[in-house]
Amino acid sequence: MEKVNILDLSELYRPEPEAQKRKQAYRNFDENKESDNSHIKRVQETYKLMHTYQTVEFVSQKRDKWGQLNKAEMNVMQALEFLNNLVDESDPDVDVPNIYHAYQTAERIRARHPDKDWFHLTGLIHDLGKVLALWGEPQWSVVGDTFPVGCEYGNSIVYKNTSFVDNPDLKDPRYNTKYGIYEENCGLDDIIMSWGHDEYMYQVLVGNKTTLPEE
Ligand SMILES: [Fe+2]
Ligand SMILES: [Fe+2]
Repeated sequence: MEKVNILDLSELYRPEPEAQKRKQAYRNFDENKESDNSHIKRVQETYKLMHTYQTVEFVSQKRDKWGQLNKAEMNVMQALEFLNNLVDESDPDVDVPNIYHAYQTAERIRARHPDKDWFHLTGLIHDLGKVLALWGEPQWSVVGDTFPVGCEYGNSIVYKNTSFVDNPDLKDPRYNTKYGIYEENCGLDDIIMSWGHDEYMYQVLVGNKTTLPEE
């Protein structure tokens, strides 16, 4: 199988102060300017595609398609290795192999919450949904921060001011008001998020009758 270079978009581009600091370490970063740093450039391009094509319609298609859970059967160790083997590590800007990130996340959670074994496991498996990228989903449909679709885009979304201009939902009166298709205070359970590895992994777990607590 072909190797796929999976970006970790979310680390550096979050609106929280910590991430903002790291972000500033990157040279020439500016939402309105194209970067000449190849990693940032790839991140910008991926978000542009994501924010252009992740529409209510797109998300509902992806939910139907992948929600069938008929693509493969594997246990967690097989999935970790499957993902790891297929990640191209040649790009110097891409942090660490995925399996390293999985164990590191699990161990950090163990250090902070030694009594919550389900939480350690959650850390270990949290990115397994990225197998989508190995099954042909484009990066912008797999990685990066997710956001609610079907309503006005929030100001906390990365590149928000420049990246949504070509998204057809922006001109759709059903979706482009403050609450869009939702009712005020409807709760997160009723929110439709852009499609990606988190939602997919959630569906896989629910479909396999996970015993992880709702928490
Ligand atoms: Fe993730
Ligand atoms: Fe992660």
